[in-house]
Formats: sequence, structure tokens, C-alpha cells
Amino acid sequence: MTKPFIFHDPDSLQEAVAKLMVQVLSELFQGGTQEPLLALSGGSTPLGLFSRLVKDHADLSFWSKVQVLWVDERHVPYDHSESNYGNAKPFLDKLGIPRNHIHPMGGDMDTESAAKDYDSLVREFAAKRPPTSPLVDLTLLGMGPDGHVASLFPGSDHLQDKVFCKAAIKPETDQPRISLTLPALNNTGCCIFMATGASKAEMVKTVLKQGPDPSYPASMIQPFPPPIWFLDKDAAAFL
Ligand code: 6PG
Repeated sequence: MTKPFIFHDPDSLQEAVAKLMVQVLSELFQGGTQEPLLALSGGSTPLGLFSRLVKDHADLSFWSKVQVLWVDERHVPYDHSESNYGNAKPFLDKLGIPRNHIHPMGGDMDTESAAKDYDSLVREFAAKRPPTSPLVDLTLLGMGPDGHVASLFPGSDHLQDKVFCKAAIKPETDQPRISLTLPALNNTGCCIFMATGASKAEMVKTVLKQGPDPSYPASMIQPFPPPIWFLDKDAAAFL
């Protein structure tokens, strides 16, 4: 596990992650990648990052070439306050990412069908990737205090997944979810974890110090290169 980057506050963390994302994307384009594939996390932490990308980096022309997937979604209408897509879309529009490059999960179908639909989409992207490229170029992840990542929650078996995307349930609320699986999340060229706030400090210590443990799905995110962790001082308090 690489040494985490620790910041005084979420704003400086988001500024740094935004700069890293731009650097990674620039290097991909310079290396000949035509349409870098991002996989974005949901939840609240990324929204500050998206705002920072718009504030500092919206002038970059390459956003029009970027393709965007989600790592997970709450299966709610896109205009619902909990929709990861609905919350991110205004920022992605301001960056100039074309609507047909933005691929939301869910929609008007049952959750199992929506997961199968997204799995097919991910496989379409996979089929177009150069053989030496990872499935996704840059994956942005968060972590819950319980050690969940995307919508891979503790208490369910995620190690047997063969598909890239599956239906899931958030245990505390029984909320239907759609989530990329470990085979997809671990197949990325750059994996960025962001975690802020004291509520995550104990789990951050567990995941970063103990290593892989299926009890904590976030610890099973083991791509190569390994994840880069961005923490604020509260989330890093026990390191
Ligand atoms: C989701 C996310 C989820 C999130 C963590 C952290 O849809 O909720 O993908 O995995 O990353 O729950 O959420 P916060 O950033 O809101 O703390």
C-alpha cells in the first residue's frame, strides 16, 4: 500500500486530486489514448472535487474526449437527490464532456436488468481497449466508515464475481444499488481513493495497515499500480 497523501482540509485535498486527474489525463492523451475512460464514485466527497475541476480546469479542451462511467449508483430516478449521476451531471456538463460520453447506471428498468445492461456497456468498452491497456484509465473511489467501496458492502461475498457490474443492496436501508465489481474496480490504470472526516479514521487505519480482508471490501481494491490514497487530517488521525 503506497503512503497516503494527507491534507489539512478537504478543499486542499480536492485541489490536489484535481491536479493529479488532469496530469493523468494529459499523459494518457500524450501517450495516444484517444478517449480516456473514467469511472467516478458517488457519494458526497467527489462533489467538491468536481466543483474544483470546473473551477480550475474547465478550460482544458480534452474533456470533450473523456468517457465517463460510474462505479456505482443508487437505483433512484436521475433527478432524485441521491442520484450519483444526477449530482455529478451539472459539473460534467460544465467541463464540456459530451452527453453521449456520459454513461449513467440505472434508468427505468429493474435493478438486475440495469446491472446487466451496464455490464454489457462495460464489456463493450473492454472490447475496444488496446490489449495492453487496463479496463479503465482512472477510477475515483470513496470508502464508507464500514469499509464499503462503490456499493460493495461488508457481509456480502464479492470475491466470486465474474461480471463487471452487479445489482446490490445497501444493508442499512435495503436501497437497491448497481455497482462495478472487484474484477472491474481492480482493472484500472490509476486508482484514487478519497476519504475525509473523523468517521472514517478507524477504517482508514484498518484498510491501510491490515491489508486485504474480505470483511472490508475497500481493502480488496488491489489494482496495479496500487491505489493512491488522499486523506484529510481527520480521516488520517489514527495513522
Ligand atoms: C455511493 C458511493 C460510496 C461512497 C462512500 C463514501 O454511491 O455512496 O459510491 O461508495 O464512495 O459511501 O461516501 P461519501 O463520499 O459520501 O463519504
